Amino acid sequence: MNKITNSPEETIDYAKSIASSFKPGDIYGLRGEMASGKTTFIKGLLMGMKYKNMVNSPTFTLVNEYDAFNKVIHIDCYRENDIERWVSLGIFEYFSLNNIVLIEWPEIISEILPKTIKYIDFSVLEGNKRRIKIN
Ligand SMILES: Nc1ncnc2c1ncn2[C@@H]1O[C@H](COP(=O)(O)OP(=O)(O)OP(=O)(O)O)[C@@H](O)[C@H]1O
Ligand SMILES: [Mg+2]
Repeated sequence: MNKITNSPEETIDYAKSIASSFKPGDIYGLRGEMASGKTTFIKGLLMGMKYKNMVNSPTFTLVNEYDAFNKVIHIDCYRENDIERWVSLGIFEYFSLNNIVLIEWPEIISEILPKTIKYIDFSVLEGNKRRIKIN
């Protein structure tokens, strides 16, 4: 599935429109350069799941847990490239539980990602255009 958006609002609307297709047990890697829209997309997903609180990148906490309609785990690997640290944080428990898991910069922890992971690829096109490809 390939989608082009022309603004952050369009990325949010797109994510909202497909939020119901994300199910407990799903693990998604969100790949793409900085500012390609990964976190914006996650905000939209959470809005589509009727989550009312703030959604920000888990910069200091490394992992955010949102109690939306289902439990959503938001992991951003960008600032922690020590795999042992992720293991001691309990990342395997997040994978095994019936959560919806969304991982930004998944390539950093590629060696411990479950085989069932699905990927969403974000690309920056000209101006505010972004391509979002769900594999
Ligand atoms: N079509 C678009 N979709 C999403 N964001 C857009 C779009 N056009 C412009 N932007 C801008 O690009 C930035 C996207 O930021 P966002 O935090 O979502 O990126 P990210 O991929 O999570 O980056 P990082 O790797 O740093 O976490 C925002 O500043 C947003 O306003
Ligand atoms: Mg981000």
